[in-house]
Amino acid sequence: MAVPEFQRVVARRLVLRRLRAEDLGALVAYRNDPEVARYQSWTDYDASRGRQLIEDMRGRQPGEPGWFQFAIASRDTDVLMGDCALRVDADDPRLGEIGFTLSREHQGQGLGTEAVRTLLEYVFGTLSLHRVFAVTDAKNIAAATVLERVGMRREGHFIENIFFKGAWGDEFQYALLGREWASTPR
Ligand SMILES: CC(C)(COP(=O)(O)OP(=O)(O)OC[C@H]1O[C@@H](n2cnc3c(N)ncnc32)[C@H](O)[C@@H]1OP(=O)(O)O)[C@@H](O)C(=O)NCCC(=O)NCCS
Repeated sequence: MAVPEFQRVVARRLVLRRLRAEDLGALVAYRNDPEVARYQSWTDYDASRGRQLIEDMRGRQPGEPGWFQFAIASRDTDVLMGDCALRVDADDPRLGEIGFTLSREHQGQGLGTEAVRTLLEYVFGTLSLHRVFAVTDAKNIAAATVLERVGMRREGHFIENIFFKGAWGDEFQYALLGREWASTPR
């Protein structure tokens, strides 16, 4: 099936759009913030890594196998506030995984919930995926709260299944089906 060309998705306070070269400074600044990186896979995030990410996304479409990173930008100013991602399974493109990050100054205002809702609407509504999951550190209360608020179901609590930043950690797995999303009151 042809993957539709992604342009942007507009929500109440934010826009999901493609990352651009002008986003580099903000992207690297928040990804380098230890508070933001605490439960993420990276530790130091330098400009060359950010540049590579922006470059890698240039020729990609969400819905293709692999990761697609969306910019989360302010609807009013277009300033980059964070990013979120969809990974489509290489063996079955009806299955996906999501991730999300906001800069510290944009946290605690419900923007994480709005961004993930917008992403799920795109993933289920436009791309018609069957099932989406998300994995989060069991200590990451903000992420778990967002995932529960958007209606995702905690399906697993994995005990010390990852050696992460110097210690064994637990993870939660959340998931949702497309038909469950369609029947979620909004
Ligand atoms: C996860 C993340 C995107 C959430 O974004 P956000 O915009 O702050 O989320 P929201 O405001 O929509 O909701 C978060 C809720 O969790 C609550 N929360 C956050 N930390 C909490 C804590 N330690 N204890 C209890 N509640 C907490 C917030 O108070 C908020 O609830 P409220 O609206 O009732 O106040 C953001 O914290 C982030 O980018 N973190 C760093 C990257 C990351 O860990 N990403 C997830 C990887 S799986």
